[in-house]
Amino acid sequence: MGQGGAASGLPSLLFLFLLCCRHPLLVVPSQEVTHQVTVIHGTTSQATTRIQTSHQATTSSQTTQSSIRVTDEVTASNFLEEYDEKSLVVWNEYAEANWNYNTNISTETSQILLKKNAEMANHTVEYGIRARRFDITYFQNTTMKRMIHKIQDLERAALPPKELEEYNQILLNMETTYSVATVCLANGTCLHLEPDLTNLMATSRNYDELLWVWKNWRDKVGRSILPLFPKYVELSNKAAQLNGYADTGDSWRSMYEMPTLEQDLEQLFQELQPLYLNLHAYVRRALHRHHGPQRINLEGPIPAHLLGNMWAQTWSNIYDLVVPFPSAPKMDATEAMIKQGWTPRRMFEEANNFFISLGLLPVPPEFWKKSMLEKPTDGREVVCHASAWDFFNGSDFRIKQCTSVSMEDLVVAHHEMGHIQYFMQYKHLPVTFREGANPGFHEAIGDVLALSVSTPKHLHSINLLSSDGGSYGSLPLAEQDINFLMKIALDKIAFIPFSYLVDQWRWRVFDGSITKENYNQEWWSLRLKYQGLCPPVARSQDDFDPGAKFHIPSSVPYIRYFVGFIIQFQFHEALCKAAGHKGPLHQCDIFQSKEAGKRLGDAMKLGYSKPWPEAMKLITGQPNMSASAMMNYFKPLLDWLLTENGRHGEQLGWPQYNWTPDSVRSEASFPGNGRVNFLGLNLEEQQARVGQWVLLFLGVALLVATLGLTQRLFSIRSHSIHRPHRGPQFGSEVELRHS
Ligand SMILES: *[C@@H]1O[C@H](CO)[C@@H](O)[C@H](O)[C@H]1NC(C)=O
Ligand SMILES: *[C@@H]1O[C@H](CO)[C@@H](O)[C@H](O)[C@H]1NC(C)=O
Ligand SMILES: *[C@@H]1O[C@H](CO)[C@@H](O)[C@H](O)[C@H]1NC(C)=O
Ligand SMILES: *[C@@H]1O[C@H](CO)[C@@H](O)[C@H](O)[C@H]1NC(C)=O
Ligand SMILES: *[C@@H]1O[C@H](CO)[C@@H](O)[C@H](O)[C@H]1NC(C)=O
Ligand SMILES: *[C@@H]1O[C@H](CO)[C@@H](O)[C@H](O)[C@H]1NC(C)=O
Ligand SMILES: [Zn+2]
Repeated sequence: MGQGGAASGLPSLLFLFLLCCRHPLLVVPSQEVTHQVTVIHGTTSQATTRIQTSHQATTSSQTTQSSIRVTDEVTASNFLEEYDEKSLVVWNEYAEANWNYNTNISTETSQILLKKNAEMANHTVEYGIRARRFDITYFQNTTMKRMIHKIQDLERAALPPKELEEYNQILLNMETTYSVATVCLANGTCLHLEPDLTNLMATSRNYDELLWVWKNWRDKVGRSILPLFPKYVELSNKAAQLNGYADTGDSWRSMYEMPTLEQDLEQLFQELQPLYLNLHAYVRRALHRHHGPQRINLEGPIPAHLLGNMWAQTWSNIYDLVVPFPSAPKMDATEAMIKQGWTPRRMFEEANNFFISLGLLPVPPEFWKKSMLEKPTDGREVVCHASAWDFFNGSDFRIKQCTSVSMEDLVVAHHEMGHIQYFMQYKHLPVTFREGANPGFHEAIGDVLALSVSTPKHLHSINLLSSDGGSYGSLPLAEQDINFLMKIALDKIAFIPFSYLVDQWRWRVFDGSITKENYNQEWWSLRLKYQGLCPPVARSQDDFDPGAKFHIPSSVPYIRYFVGFIIQFQFHEALCKAAGHKGPLHQCDIFQSKEAGKRLGDAMKLGYSKPWPEAMKLITGQPNMSASAMMNYFKPLLDWLLTENGRHGEQLGWPQYNWTPDSVRSEASFPGNGRVNFLGLNLEEQQARVGQWVLLFLGVALLVATLGLTQRLFSIRSHSIHRPHRGPQFGSEVELRHS
């Protein structure tokens, strides 16, 4: 089938922004995303010089033929007006075709989508080429400069027609493969990812059953995506290069307009490491208690299928296994929702009411008529991955979500409604600016509200929790507070390394430092290094585990979720202050605060018209991303974890990094076939030998790195860990590269 819904191409924006869910999500045409953001002009800072230079080079070489470049701003203004008017029509039709495919996968809807894709590409090319005739270097009007620069990026439409067609077809094939995949039982019943496999991963506590689900999903999806992926990488890189970028990763990163993006993100990641390492050790202990020493090594990585989620990206589904104080009231509202007969519609109404309470906009009536809030039961195949859609007509905004009635999906509903709110807030802007300040902003808005909704106080107020957490008063560490923070940490902290590593992997695939022979091996190196996870069964290069995660086949950039998770705590902190909240940050509920709503609304109204630090200033009063709000929010939990982990003499990190669960060992190295098991990967002996040398070297490097980390942890709370960390520690600082 055709193209992917998403993918298809078009322009950036177009998309749908989808977002999504399970965090991550998103959808759509991601690619589009690409646009560049180089700030063009003057504003110093942003864009890197390299991009600017190469971009200009392309631009000028393509425009030379048409000779003289236009410098007149009145002409430019007329051009932009025409572009806006035309784009609204083309993008709306494209969005409609994409929606029809996403909510009804069939040969026919795919064909229509591919056709709309081609029309969209024509539009992009036509106006992109015209935009490239302008020489905007000396434009006085910086807004126009920013718009034209963006339109000059043709994104995938820069490809020659034959290759564009092939590229769109590959994207469609990947997305369709992922979306219609099922895993079948021996008796012939076939299970979809949503809701069946997702529910099994969330609720089963049986090691082997979880393993079956985990492995079969990857056998089915990852392996089918693999043959399509190298060509996708090639064509997507080619399009990026035709637009003046070094490769696709470069073009994705340019959306942030930050020359030091990679270093800045690494710094944020490092600052949050104490939280992750302590959570990891604590959860590993709980899993050890449940699954036993055969399956869990207290000094090794955790098998990746035991965390309650298909990708181990958020862990709150195993809250019951790790709850700090089992006798304190339960934190999960799912049971109450089911008992009270909540429907998906009710969940979205609740989210809508929260936005209204902040003085923000209600969704228009069309939203309720046109959205797909439940998985259809008429046999249609759909792309279930939750997403929010802008149809560029000022009143047509929709969500597509296969909603389950649960607390987890209530949070997702708020996430998606955050995208819708953003669409509505910037709908007055020219289409070029109808995007988030950066992609992380778009991901953060709904989550900010969900942080308030999740508090015991708020859940109690909507009758989903019998206790409101009782009297906090003077007790700083009430048991229910720790339970609550643990629940939130299982989602927010556990997600940090995952959201960081997905694009670490893809950026290196795009820049060529990860080749197709090493796709899976490097994926697991990063899973080990950042998340402290190992595969529960041997993997080989015929497996393609990254392909079993939605955003990879759908070509949706992922670092936005990492950014979104960090800044949502900055937003929460600032809004709580604006709302006059007193007391610990995690108890704050901004419900009904018009002051908080105004800040969010003002930032959203900017769309993409200004570099994102302007929007950051409107919300938080300062321009930078920072991990301090997140650290502050979780401070009581970190203190508690340090004490608890100290009490058990817990080893932070995973010094026994090449330990694998017994199931791997038993399948490992079949004598005589020349393959051995290494880091859970099935490798040629030669490859493994090289790998071992690398590990030996890294062991030394890690020891050094660990000293730094150790010191940092200790300076946070020096007396609480009785046994110091010994030995090398994976989990951070060092790259594990296979040569
Ligand atoms: C710059 O151009 C935009 C779009 O044409 C226009 O709306 C805006 O008023 C102009 N700004 C100035 C300062 O002229
Ligand atoms: C799904 O698409 C098919 C065309 O392939 C169309 O006949 C059918 O009516 C559509 N179903 C719905 C529910 O829109
Ligand atoms: C795109 O433009 C080309 C050349 O102008 C034209 O031949 C083709 O039919 C157009 N395709 C679509 C789908 O509009
Ligand atoms: C197959 O087995 C599953 C799980 O045991 C069961 O839920 C399902 O109803 C069975 N299907 C058939 C067709 O027997
Ligand atoms: C936008 O689309 C909706 C739903 O298709 C429609 O009801 C509405 O009239 C359209 N609005 C405009 C301004 O075109
Ligand atoms: C923001 O970050 C920049 C660069 O790191 C720094 O120079 C500046 O002081 C920071 N601003 C604030 C208000 O923290
Ligand atoms: Zn999203």
